Amino acid sequence: MKFQIIKEDTTGTKARVAKINTHHGDIETPVFMPVGTRATVKTMTPRVLREVGTQILLGNTYHLAVRPGEQLIRDMGGLHKFMAWDGPILTDSGGFQAFSLTKLRKLTKNGVTFRSHIDGAIFEFTPERVMEIEKCLGSDIVMPLDHCIGWPCTKEEAKQAAQTSIDWLKRSKDYELSAHQNLFGIIQGSGYSDLREWCAEEMVKLDLPGYAIGGLAVGETKDVMQEMIEHTNKVLPVEKPRYLMGVGTPVDLIQAISRGVDMFDCVMPTRNARGGGFFTWEGKKQIRNSRYARDESPLDDKCSCYTCTTFSRSYLHHLFSKKVEEILGLSMLTLHNIHFYHDFTKNIRQAIMENRFQSFMSNFLDTYQGT
Ligand code: GUN
Ligand code: ZN
Repeated sequence: MKFQIIKEDTTGTKARVAKINTHHGDIETPVFMPVGTRATVKTMTPRVLREVGTQILLGNTYHLAVRPGEQLIRDMGGLHKFMAWDGPILTDSGGFQAFSLTKLRKLTKNGVTFRSHIDGAIFEFTPERVMEIEKCLGSDIVMPLDHCIGWPCTKEEAKQAAQTSIDWLKRSKDYELSAHQNLFGIIQGSGYSDLREWCAEEMVKLDLPGYAIGGLAVGETKDVMQEMIEHTNKVLPVEKPRYLMGVGTPVDLIQAISRGVDMFDCVMPTRNARGGGFFTWEGKKQIRNSRYARDESPLDDKCSCYTCTTFSRSYLHHLFSKKVEEILGLSMLTLHNIHFYHDFTKNIRQAIMENRFQSFMSNFLDTYQGT
């Protein structure tokens, strides 16, 4: 995998534009990765994803191992072929889901044991087992099993979770993946800046192709989140991609980009869409709101997506209204929201290229309502 910095911001921030070269194609960063947990980005075909500007998808090891199983996917030719997405794929390790989805989990030095949230079957995730699953999936960027800890927690608990994540990363690195696959490290350390720096230093020693910042947006304030990003990025090498896991709102993204983050994933655009939430350059809005019943304008008049060039707010309001709840509404809002996130990062890349990122950011933060 190649990571090539194309342009560093000249207006006083750490933002940069770069290109990642993977076996399944190039990615321009800063990039947003839509979440395709169960080998589908809910309601979107791969063709539509391409049309709205998706460059790379995220898949989930945990969900795919539970159903349909990694061996089936391997036998069907790997995750790319199985879901008919021929672009790059990043797979998360399932460590996060093991901690968030199931109450019946047991953490040992060796890994995590838990019962499936579907049928109660017992799964044992060790660092090596997770690598084996991700090798079957054939993803381009592979996340290791880690210990993501919620906030608040004590410093001792945070240190232990970071140490476990370091130990498991070393074991993951010893596992032989396929030649096209790239293992990232996941920095933990919770809300403690010295632990973040220490964890980053230990993981950077392993000289991996990229690094993720994990364990954020788990209950801490936005200020703490940005502070942890800043402390972590201070240690991470400039010449490797940086990925902020599970974040966030457009405001979170632009602030993290100004601190040098290159990659993001979040369920926010897709999950919000299915609840009637849509993103605009003025902020997030709710299509079920009665004020849209007779509104002939598009979701966002600055948006060029299929939904916005075709349908009115009035029509989409109808699709989402109680007793109607037509499924076309779900896919049309999802399409728009994913397009919005891609258009947003594309505008950021252009602003960096044209030496106007700082003014673009302050302009955006002034006009965007909400956090
Ligand atoms: N997704 C969001 N945060 C995390 C994290 O800390 N670890 C992993 N594996 N996935 C995440
Ligand atoms: Zn749109």
